Amino acid sequence: MNAPTPAPQPFPFLFRPMREEDIAEVMEIERYSFPHPWPESAYRNEVRYGINSLFYILQPYSEPSPANWWDRLWKRRRGERCPVIGYVGMRLLPAEAHITTIAVHPEWRGRGLGKYILLMAIRQAMQHRVRFVTLEVRASNRVAQRLYTDLGFRVTGIQRGYYRDGEDAWTMRLGPLDGAEIERLEEIRRATEERIVKRET
Ligand SMILES: CC(C)(COP(=O)(O)OP(=O)(O)OC[C@H]1O[C@@H](n2cnc3c(N)ncnc32)[C@H](O)[C@@H]1OP(=O)(O)O)[C@@H](O)C(=O)NCCC(=O)NCCS
Repeated sequence: MNAPTPAPQPFPFLFRPMREEDIAEVMEIERYSFPHPWPESAYRNEVRYGINSLFYILQPYSEPSPANWWDRLWKRRRGERCPVIGYVGMRLLPAEAHITTIAVHPEWRGRGLGKYILLMAIRQAMQHRVRFVTLEVRASNRVAQRLYTDLGFRVTGIQRGYYRDGEDAWTMRLGPLDGAEIERLEEIRRATEERIVKRET
């Protein structure tokens, strides 16, 4: 007799729009992640007024069940929330989404979550008829550069002294996002999700 097929594991993280109450935790990651962090007001303005911006966070997710529901209510009463473990921001331009920020909490790095966040952001951007995704990355930031090239971003130029401390930026671009390219990215997203589920559950 064949062994029963195990039920598929639920995805253990939730990718959702950033809200004002997330910003304190976003700022904590921001300070760990960048030599010149954005001020808190920048995130607040983006979340409140950024009509051409899309900002998302990633947090651990547990399936709501009755037992869990009580647990959640109890936690909420005590002011406990699921922590923010990563975030991404984009600005929408005509036919283009420009990634303005992306970071994962240092304790959660190297598990595929940065790749997942970026793929989910690209997926959201595509709903706004975006054909290209662009970004700048520090010339020294090998980890982020590898993440972007893995997903198919190509270097389109170098901006000399772009950052406040004088470091150069590479400008990178993904696209055009048409049928085959969208399917390729979806394939990577599915594989990344599987890898995360295997690791985290
Ligand atoms: C860049 C960042 C978001 C990546 O997040 P992450 O969750 O660690 O990345 P992932 O685990 O999803 O890895 C994605 C890819 O990045 C690359 N990568 C991740 N960690 C790496 C490391 N230590 N060395 C080299 N490449 C690495 C790999 O290509 C990896 O793909 P693979 O696992 O299939 O080999 C994270 O390192 C971060 O927050 N850095 C500080 C902020 C920052 O630099 N943001 C980018 C601004 S342009």
